[in-house]
Amino acid sequence: MGHIEAAHKSAFWNPFANMAALQGNAITIVGGEGSTVYDADGRAYLDALASLWYCNVGYGRAELAEAAAAQMRQIAGFQTFEYFTNPPVEALCCRVADLAPMPDAKVFLTPGGGSDAVDTAGKLARAYWRAVGQPNRQVIISRSHAYHGMNAYGTSLGGIPLLTEPFAPLVGQVEQVPWDDPAALEKTIEMVGDDKVAAFFCEPVIGAGGVYPPPEGYLQAVREICRRHDVLFVADEVVTGYGRVGTWFASERFELDPDLITSAKGLSSGYLPIGAVISGPKVAEPFWKHGSKEIFRHGYTYSGHPAAAAVALANLDLIEREQLVQRVAALEPVLAKKVAPLGDHPGVSAVRSGTGLLAAVEIAEDYRSADPGIGQRLVTAVRDRGVITRLLRGIALQISPPFVITEAELGQIAEAFAGAFDEVIVDH
Ligand SMILES: Cc1ncc(COP(=O)(O)O)c(C=O)c1O
Repeated sequence: MGHIEAAHKSAFWNPFANMAALQGNAITIVGGEGSTVYDADGRAYLDALASLWYCNVGYGRAELAEAAAAQMRQIAGFQTFEYFTNPPVEALCCRVADLAPMPDAKVFLTPGGGSDAVDTAGKLARAYWRAVGQPNRQVIISRSHAYHGMNAYGTSLGGIPLLTEPFAPLVGQVEQVPWDDPAALEKTIEMVGDDKVAAFFCEPVIGAGGVYPPPEGYLQAVREICRRHDVLFVADEVVTGYGRVGTWFASERFELDPDLITSAKGLSSGYLPIGAVISGPKVAEPFWKHGSKEIFRHGYTYSGHPAAAAVALANLDLIEREQLVQRVAALEPVLAKKVAPLGDHPGVSAVRSGTGLLAAVEIAEDYRSADPGIGQRLVTAVRDRGVITRLLRGIALQISPPFVITEAELGQIAEAFAGAFDEVIVDH
């Protein structure tokens, strides 16, 4: 056992965890209902995160379990390489194509979370330019504060240094621009040479980097710059897709007309892992046009997994039937109003909200630099009040609840935050 405590029985290596400190302190989640989850001791927590921005329909949805079970009884899994397909996959891709804010969309399914979708989109962008005779267009540009997942492309495109620097360089030909500056994007495209730039990756609302809604006019400006330089615009909607900003896609709300959309999380509300890269006609055309010999030589064992597709379909049915996208739009101002007073606390430097069920409460820099442990203590103090949140980029507390959250529960989240700031930041 070396220096590992023998008393610590778990062999589970948690993502993003200090395993030495975690020993004996893990929280074992065993159940959930609505926006609430339960631990092994029966303690209830209001989940202000929808797990990791994904459990949009809330916990305990038996019909999603039934959709999985029914498909599994028929055939749980079968590959889709080359020429195999299956009914749930066909139905899901039609459904997603219809919901996507682009004409005649095509859908490439990915098996896991958003990281698979991001790496797929990065490779597809390069494959597209090869297919249309511009193989030198290889460079992909992303933004500071960006989070595009943890596979090789996503890690390389990420704008959070703590998560990228230990591993870089993974994928070459990647450039980064400030998250809020359209002129910097244009300058970088011109510096690299617009005949070398394949795509710009953009979260319409920056999520894991700290929940930054787009500055007024930013998205329209960068979209226009990409169009002018014939650079593919890739909207990373892994967080924002399937309703989180009060429209099916943020691309619809902000009229982005993207060439590609990456998505995952809300596609199935996490009941089974599945993601999708949604392609507009421009990128699809060289691969789909009559007589083409172009092949996107990419795919995963579990691309087009029937059980996951059946669950995703049932999830979209549920969102539609219960009008949950409209519910998010209605709750957007409610959430904003409930969290706004937190901005009066001296320990809070900013409260960001106003794009659907997404918000962040930023801890004032003075307090963070005086005491680097303050963020985690705030997370714990919020949890002690029965609410789950987490720290984004070391600076802000995340709020991204399930779409089924009630107004009273949003109030409970705000109260828990207020209590935690009062408890942890005492010297004002
Ligand atoms: C915008 C964005 N892209 C990609 C990812 C990666 O998704 P996953 O962790 O499901 O692989 C995330 C995860 O939070 C994300 O927020």
